[in-house]
Amino acid sequence: MGAYEDVFRASVADREGFWLEAAQALEWETPPTRALDDANPPFYRWFPDGRLNVAHNALDRHVAAGRGDQAALIYDSPVTGTQRTYTYARLTDEVATFAGVLRAEGVGVGDRVVIYMPMVPEAVVAMLACARLGAVHSVVFGGFAANELAVRIEDATPKVVVSASCGIEGKRVIEYKPLLDKAIALSSHKPDSQVILQRPQAEAAMGATDVDWAEAVAKATPADPVPVKSTDPLYVLYTSGTTGKPKGVVRDGGGYATALAWSMPHVYDVGPGQTIFTASDVGWVVGHSYIVYAPLLAGATTVLYEGKPVGTPDAGQFWRVCAEHGVRALFTAPTAFRALKKEDPNGEYATQYDLSGLKYLFLAGERLDPETYRWALDLLDIPVIDHWWQTETGWPIVADPAGIELLPIKPGSPTRPLPGWDIQVLDANGRQVPPDTDGAIVAKLPLPPGAFPTLWNDDERFVSSYMSAFPGYYLTGDGGRIDSDGYVFVMGRTDDVINVAGHRLSTGGMEEVLASHPAVAECAVIGVADQMKGQVPRGFVVLKAGADPDPDELRAELVQMVRDRIGAVASLKDVAVVAALPKTRSGKILRKTMRGIADGLDEPVPSTIENVDVLDDLRSVLRKG
Ligand code: COA
Ligand code: AMP
Repeated sequence: MGAYEDVFRASVADREGFWLEAAQALEWETPPTRALDDANPPFYRWFPDGRLNVAHNALDRHVAAGRGDQAALIYDSPVTGTQRTYTYARLTDEVATFAGVLRAEGVGVGDRVVIYMPMVPEAVVAMLACARLGAVHSVVFGGFAANELAVRIEDATPKVVVSASCGIEGKRVIEYKPLLDKAIALSSHKPDSQVILQRPQAEAAMGATDVDWAEAVAKATPADPVPVKSTDPLYVLYTSGTTGKPKGVVRDGGGYATALAWSMPHVYDVGPGQTIFTASDVGWVVGHSYIVYAPLLAGATTVLYEGKPVGTPDAGQFWRVCAEHGVRALFTAPTAFRALKKEDPNGEYATQYDLSGLKYLFLAGERLDPETYRWALDLLDIPVIDHWWQTETGWPIVADPAGIELLPIKPGSPTRPLPGWDIQVLDANGRQVPPDTDGAIVAKLPLPPGAFPTLWNDDERFVSSYMSAFPGYYLTGDGGRIDSDGYVFVMGRTDDVINVAGHRLSTGGMEEVLASHPAVAECAVIGVADQMKGQVPRGFVVLKAGADPDPDELRAELVQMVRDRIGAVASLKDVAVVAALPKTRSGKILRKTMRGIADGLDEPVPSTIENVDVLDDLRSVLRKG
């Protein structure tokens, strides 16, 4: 039996013992005596009697252990020409001071703080400062528009919002403050104050309840870490569901910190003093877990990169960062590699840098297509590790565990489930399917530490969205299969969620925007395959009787509406006017059939279709697109 099998079996044979031992990697104010509270399924709680402070574990603990001079965070920003290294001692001080700022603004245990910031160190400082106070942060990705920010402010009811005057998107400066002001105006909940980091690229106009970051820090008294219950929320991270209303994924402190601390040596093979570069964004779960919390909990060094894989200014930046900062593990989304491949097909930039320290490439966020896998492997000649996870799970579900044993790779599969994950594939009736048969991928409850215990203020939606399709199982929303060697193949979402350039978006949310146009009677948005972004959304609208807008103007208006209300990141560039949408006799839009046609598949026409004639119209629209 291999090392992976041994570890996996140990986690099944004695779940309590396995996770209690993993929890010992942390410093607890009150160490847990029990691993799992399973009294109220499907609401499981990890380490119910433990108390800790996650920021203390990420920072102060390492300073106390004598590692204060080691680099904790390296900020590398080609878009501003800045590089800055924060040692553990400095980061601890800055976090303690900013926690003092938040405390002075009235933030205490359990209060929410919304963070709407670009990829600057202050975003990490703000997150950890919340954790230090036992407050709950909710980071909103900078690419979302005011309306999306407003929805999150409304739901999280923050006491304070922390933001910056601007972000830098390639060569463009994006002013954040007007978006924040608009979001607060739209939301019925008003925060008490906004702490604004002024950046020189665009200074923000300040209002009566705005607080200048630098001024507040200059007069703040540092705050000590506040131990809280393991089960208390550390953060809420909103993610796209099937409707326009995002789901507030709740993360507890103790279970999450335990899972992340376990994952660093076992999955990523990165330990104290070693460097991980996660090229994502703090607005996504990958950023929360592997830019911020996991590297710092492990005493490693994390790189915070403000830039893109290409164009800021060239396709050599990832390799420059890896070489300059001695990166051991690079983690990004396959789409970033497709962008690199397009710009630099022969990988010439990579040959200009010393990449001898780079030991692993980890990819996640969308399916890793075998072609991109092979290109990355040929280029780097190191293990290219596809791993599958979700905002809900907080850490990988299925991965090649580099720090335990590298399992043989089958391109197209992220390999096998990690300890704690009992992954199965079920048919529509909830029966396990034989190997190599497609179905719904589910995880048998309880989920391991780190996975979400519920949705923010919405236990009911937690149960209805995830736990009721197959009682006793978590419905991942992904479809796929498991082969006879236990390898999991994740083929794509079975719901209205799409992955655009590694960004998770809701087609339902885009449909709500299109449907609000006065000329639109009904609409559908589907994700279609895209060579670069994996998927992109395409919209189809049917006009109201009597509406006769100029088609080009209408299309431009609809595209702009989605950009204004959801954000540029939605990438909806293409909306077609069609005579009708294909529907079942009961009136359900046949989105799967539409997707199949768009992707050029030989999609069977369902017998339940009412208006088969519209498919020809649709085929010709899609061919033109
Ligand atoms: N703030 C404001 N706008 C943003 C933004 C942000 N933080 N992030 C993206 N946008 C904008 C982009 O500028 C772009 O605007 P445009 O339509 O005016 O050009 C739009 O949103 C779409 O962005 P994106 O889909 O990211 O496309 P891109 O062409 O700018 O970049 C890649 C393509 C592949 C380079 C980029 O998507 C990438 O690096 N992806 C990696 C994804 C990732 O890290 N995912 C996290 C999971 S690991
Ligand atoms: P997010 O919640 O933004 O992390 O997106 C989660 C979704 O991304 C999953 O449900 C999958 O559809 C997709 N995903 C993430 N990682 C992978 C992967 N390695 N292979 C296939 N799909 C993935």
